[in-house]
Amino acid sequence: MAARPWGFNSLLPHHKPNEARENESRSQTRLEDFNMAKIIGAVATSHSPTIGFALDRQKQDDPAWTPIFKAYEPVQRWLEEKKPDVLFLIFNDHVTSFFFDHYSAFALGIDNAYAVADEGGGARALPAVKGHAALAQHIGASLVADEFDMSFFQDKALDHGCFSPLSMLWPHEPEWPGAMIPLQVGVLQFPIPSAKRCYKLGRSLRRAIESYPEDLKVVIVATGGLSHQVHGERSGYNNTEWDMQFLEMIEKDPAKLTQLRIAEYAELGGFEGAEVIMWLIMRGALSENIRKIHQTYYLPTMTALATAIYENEAVEPMVDTNQDYRNHVQYQLAGVEKIEGTYPFTLGRSVKGYRLNKFLHRLIEPEHRRRFLEDPEPLFEESGLTSEERDLVRRRDWRGMIQYGAIFFMLEKLGAVVGVSNLHIYAAMRGQPLEEFLKTRNQPGALYSVAGKDAKKLDWEQAGAGKQKGK
Ligand code: FE2
Repeated sequence: MAARPWGFNSLLPHHKPNEARENESRSQTRLEDFNMAKIIGAVATSHSPTIGFALDRQKQDDPAWTPIFKAYEPVQRWLEEKKPDVLFLIFNDHVTSFFFDHYSAFALGIDNAYAVADEGGGARALPAVKGHAALAQHIGASLVADEFDMSFFQDKALDHGCFSPLSMLWPHEPEWPGAMIPLQVGVLQFPIPSAKRCYKLGRSLRRAIESYPEDLKVVIVATGGLSHQVHGERSGYNNTEWDMQFLEMIEKDPAKLTQLRIAEYAELGGFEGAEVIMWLIMRGALSENIRKIHQTYYLPTMTALATAIYENEAVEPMVDTNQDYRNHVQYQLAGVEKIEGTYPFTLGRSVKGYRLNKFLHRLIEPEHRRRFLEDPEPLFEESGLTSEERDLVRRRDWRGMIQYGAIFFMLEKLGAVVGVSNLHIYAAMRGQPLEEFLKTRNQPGALYSVAGKDAKKLDWEQAGAGKQKGK
């Protein structure tokens, strides 16, 4: 390889990328490995709205619904006995909170809490479940390091895909006994990930969870299926024989399931039944051999409802559950903290700065910015900004906002609204008078902003490259 012209090699951190480590001896047991997060088993469950409906309407003694309640009793007991700290719950949204304006394949929740979504007719009366933002951020970074191009979400209520089964798994009054990390899989707008891709993501998920340096018990919950079709002339399709085969193969021969195409899943188990590929994420996160300790199957009406519990049979040590793996996860950003005046917008910053960024982002709405210019105080109150956040915005503290967790592209929106150019903001972040900063530019008079047709003649145009406003 040709030498880099600017001393690139000297910038390289000591960690080596994953490939470079493949041939090294690995997996020495270290003390720290005893305090790692651990996957203690998995639950698979359908996520039909029937389940939550039966619970809310107290249908325990109605013969049509009793089998549903019976199916969950062993799962409830198992969870009660195992006491997981976190449920990693894999589900698909049903075009409630994830619309087609921006649809993604694998969306990981990194929030501190998740409320129940209103799907038409009001949300179910369930408390919000808390998230585990730190573990979720680690999982997100790990999956991206393993070349899965994840998307991340916050501030979203979740629909029956998540809460229908969850409300049966865990008691939840007055609150849930543990935290949840949701993974939303986009299985409704094609193309969607293949069964094989889901399985591979599960393999990485296991490494991600088991390299997290905190003593946490994690249960993977896969939701969806089994056979059903709810659209078109084929709606009402079921296939119990295929469901039985699927339940056998997910336990004993998942590799074969990864070979099936989506069209084959649709033909065998109904078009919407193809969502069972999400179970392969769970299966990938378990050991090669697993023990099934519970299974039920019930087909009351449209969707074949299944529940199952799996435990790892042979817990072979994962090769990378140590510092090396975490170095692999952090490889791309390792050392970035040494670059002065630089604040990578990580998932952690995104969670911390969310309220402020959301407030500033809403300045793209004409009514929000009209009200902001008129009197920002009621808007601060409505948006629940903390006193620190309000103060940063009031004082147009550009540097302070960046340090707090705002992303620059919200600052330039605020600048456009209040008539401040981008160059003003850059100078302020640097702590320099505008004139001084402009002298460092090749064209000192070139000021600009993202302001569009609503902006009147801008102040700085009237005053030339004159006085800095708002600072
Ligand atoms: Fe679904």
